[in-house]
Amino acid sequence: EEDNRWTAVDNYTSKHLNTASKLNEALNNALKNSDAHGLPPISVSEHQGKFLMLQARMSGAKHILEVGLLGGYSTIWLANSNPDVKVTTVEVSEDNAAVAKENLKAAGVADRVEVVVGSGVEVLPRLVEEVKAGKRPPFGFFFIDADKQNNWTYVDNACEMALPKACIYVDNVVRKGNLAEESATDERILGNRKMVENVGKDSRLDATVIQTVSDKNYDGFLFAVVKG
Ligand code: DHB
Ligand code: MG
Repeated sequence: EEDNRWTAVDNYTSKHLNTASKLNEALNNALKNSDAHGLPPISVSEHQGKFLMLQARMSGAKHILEVGLLGGYSTIWLANSNPDVKVTTVEVSEDNAAVAKENLKAAGVADRVEVVVGSGVEVLPRLVEEVKAGKRPPFGFFFIDADKQNNWTYVDNACEMALPKACIYVDNVVRKGNLAEESATDERILGNRKMVENVGKDSRLDATVIQTVSDKNYDGFLFAVVKG
């Protein structure tokens, strides 16, 4: 099903657009170290990571919230969106968080990344309360890449702690086209369907879904902007 042209184009554009740099070294180190510790190879692709970095840079966000740290690969991209950006990242696995902390330190961004260990459904409502109480600043950019079953809860919580015009990027929404399969029973697909359908009815958000192909196969992301 995977098409080798997808990989060929990724390799060609990588060669010309992502030149050798300290950032690329840090990113490759993060993937290698994550793999050595047995983390699954489900980080965002290189091109998706760079797109995230550029979107976050364009948004001007000073505070980014990530849900789903894994080994910190996307976190390193996000932390490089602006020199003074702060990333708060939520991870349910202590083991993943320990590996990610090594990778973030090696990438030179550990002092600008706050790792919160806990499940998104427990941590995000707490962050909402802290933002509402003025104990932490609202976020200008969200990257949601955790348990897909809870994607609607995460988007809903994000809206409650977002600056006007904040961006919300949700990974793995299309899942080989299964998003549009009405008879789907996989909870991750059902979670994404619920999220897309609720976002469409939500007056706080404008959103689209972009389909992608890469060595991560056929997938896609939802991109939403908070009104205001
Ligand atoms: C899965 C999760 C991801 O975040 C991803 O990028 C790919 C796959 C998964 O749970 O299957
Ligand atoms: Mg993902």
